Amino acid sequence: MESDIVIEAKKVSKTYDAAGTPVRALQSVDLTVRRGEMVAVMGPSGCGKTTLLNCLSGLDSIDEGDVLIEGVSLKEMSDRERTKYRARRMGFVFQFYNLLPVLNAVENVELPQLVSRVDPKEARERSEAALELVGVAGQANHRPSQLSGGQRQRVTIARALASNPAIVWADEPTGDLDSQNAVDITKLMRRLNEEQNLTFVIVTHDIAVGRATDRIIRMADGVIVEELLLKAPEPEPEAEPEPAPKPEREIAALTV
Ligand SMILES: Nc1ncnc2c1ncn2[C@@H]1O[C@H](COP(=O)(O)OP(=O)(O)O)[C@@H](O)[C@H]1O
Ligand SMILES: [Mg+2]
Repeated sequence: MESDIVIEAKKVSKTYDAAGTPVRALQSVDLTVRRGEMVAVMGPSGCGKTTLLNCLSGLDSIDEGDVLIEGVSLKEMSDRERTKYRARRMGFVFQFYNLLPVLNAVENVELPQLVSRVDPKEARERSEAALELVGVAGQANHRPSQLSGGQRQRVTIARALASNPAIVWADEPTGDLDSQNAVDITKLMRRLNEEQNLTFVIVTHDIAVGRATDRIIRMADGVIVEELLLKAPEPEPEAEPEPAPKPEREIAALTV
């Protein structure tokens, strides 16, 4: 059975050197995220949200502690393995889209797959399906400059989904959008989370985004200071209460 825990951070610390002054961006952070959970990371600017996302996803290295993704320690992977793992199992959505201006939407979505050597025909099929899923199939041949902010963010979400990841990491995904587009993108992420049991970790300033998730993690000065559970975890099938045993079963149990 696949593990229910998809992300496990154990006492993760990260210190940056800012022109000779150490900045303790993360201090012994513990965090567990279940498969299919949608988590928001909130807190004031500079509190370590982006660092947390980068360290947990393996984009950045950590100084102390450990991060297990689907039970595998990032520390035990080589750089190459980590990169490969990220390409296969993780999707990323950033505030400013990171789309290449010279490529159209479908080419932007398929590029990371081509880099990780997915067969071009399959990459195109997956990319078209992902654009369809996020509602911009009609704009597949448009370049980013021909798309609205909301459409661009849909394309980056499609790019994140196209490799069929276990986790999507989003850093301020609605930060550059007007409020209506922010609502639409939030709903889209929620729908993908629910329909595909996709795990989302979303860094956000926007409380409306936070409210749409299962759990808000509030950070301050490199530590998690509060967790707010908005939606109780679904019970595991195994964890469901057993029906009351019939008398004959009770008796049989006594005799073995
Ligand atoms: N590459 C870096 N070099 C030095 N300091 C950094 C670097 N990245 C982040 N920091 C510092 O680490 C702290 C946390 O930053 P960050 O994770 O970006 O915060 P947030 O995303 O919550 O705004 C801040 O004090 C920031 O200035
Ligand atoms: Mg940030």
